[in-house]
Amino acid sequence: MIFVTGGAGFIGSNFILNWIKKHNEPVLNIDKLTYAGNLENLKSVENNPNYLFAKTDLLDLAGLEKLVNEHKPRAILNFAAESHVDRSIHGPGDFIQTNIVGTFNLLQVTKDYWSQLPDVEKKSFRFLHVSTDEVYGSLELNDAPFSETTPYAPNSPYSASKASSDHLVRAYHHTYGLPTVTTNCSNNYGPYQFPEKLIPLVIHNALKGKDLPIYGDGSNIRDWLYVVDHCDAIELALEKGRLGETYNVGGWNEKKNIEVVDTICTTLDKLRPRADGKSYLTQKVFVKDRPGHDKRYAIDATKIEKELGWKPAENFETGLAKTIKWYLDNETWVGNIVSGNYREWLDKNYGGRR
Ligand code: NAD
Ligand code: TYD
Repeated sequence: MIFVTGGAGFIGSNFILNWIKKHNEPVLNIDKLTYAGNLENLKSVENNPNYLFAKTDLLDLAGLEKLVNEHKPRAILNFAAESHVDRSIHGPGDFIQTNIVGTFNLLQVTKDYWSQLPDVEKKSFRFLHVSTDEVYGSLELNDAPFSETTPYAPNSPYSASKASSDHLVRAYHHTYGLPTVTTNCSNNYGPYQFPEKLIPLVIHNALKGKDLPIYGDGSNIRDWLYVVDHCDAIELALEKGRLGETYNVGGWNEKKNIEVVDTICTTLDKLRPRADGKSYLTQKVFVKDRPGHDKRYAIDATKIEKELGWKPAENFETGLAKTIKWYLDNETWVGNIVSGNYREWLDKNYGGRR
């Protein structure tokens, strides 16, 4: 079986759903269930015999040890993290704990477990670390996209904590020979993304008649990748990635934030017109910029394309159309998060099982 940490979050839950569709191999989801962890994402597989769940914190060393010794995974994929830049600005402590200390704990437990495996299993074992392009810092408009050799220059507490975790993974490969692979991906979007991030926040606020807050003048640029394309890239890296290597993953889709917001508004105008006949564009509001706001992210994904044969299936237009449709079809999912009802659902479903 494989372990996925942070499997109740946005990318982790998409990965598990995708994995269970394609493979007949069990997956254990290890998640602390922070505000960003939502087991409702995995409702469609909760009774599938190939899906298991352990509510465990990466800071709980003994809990992690127990899980590896009991289930003997052939691979551990680390998605768990505090992931929101704005939250890291208001309160960096949790980012240091989970992203740095948590990854360190997971590496320690993995190393101890891996080092006593029989040779064949030891050779085939993998530790896959899911990271971000934000570790490379910020680009100017004319700079070449980030490649795997771009020096690390993280600018936010979030990206600094992720950079630190990447360095630990690198060190565990270099020093102890742990068979690791790291992926550094650009901004994801798609189903089950918590509505604190730009795309789901704008869709949700638009439909609720609220302001659409645009930081600064909206000219900051991000590269966007549909989440399922990211999940496919991670699977390929797990299967075929060279040990100790890092792979950049991106959609070749650089967009200014303002373009993203405008496209969401005009798509919603067609799919769910406002009752008063006005455009959702009228809800846009320019607000105070994020401190230290990175100007531009862009990814050169040539290495993963050439070495592993990965290419994104969606472009921004097709991926965004799918995403908007998903949010329109799943307003209860968003509603539950926003109202906190999904916590009640958790208590109802898991409260009596201890
Ligand atoms: P998310 O915030 O949606 O989910 C994170 C998950 O980790 C949640 O389920 C949460 O409960 C869990 N978690 C947090 N702290 C934990 C702890 N101490 N122990 C166990 N579980 C814990 O994040 P996401 O957007 O799904 O991102 C997943 C990974 O991908 C992260 O490592 C992130 O840095 C990376 N990444 C994200 C993006 C993006 O655009 N979202 C892009 C590139 C890389
Ligand atoms: P976000 O989704 O938070 O991802 P990240 O900061 O990791 O790139 O933000 C994407 C971009 O959108 C980023 O440049 C900040 C901007 N943004 C807004 O303009 N308004 C918002 O309300 C949010 C959440 C983000």
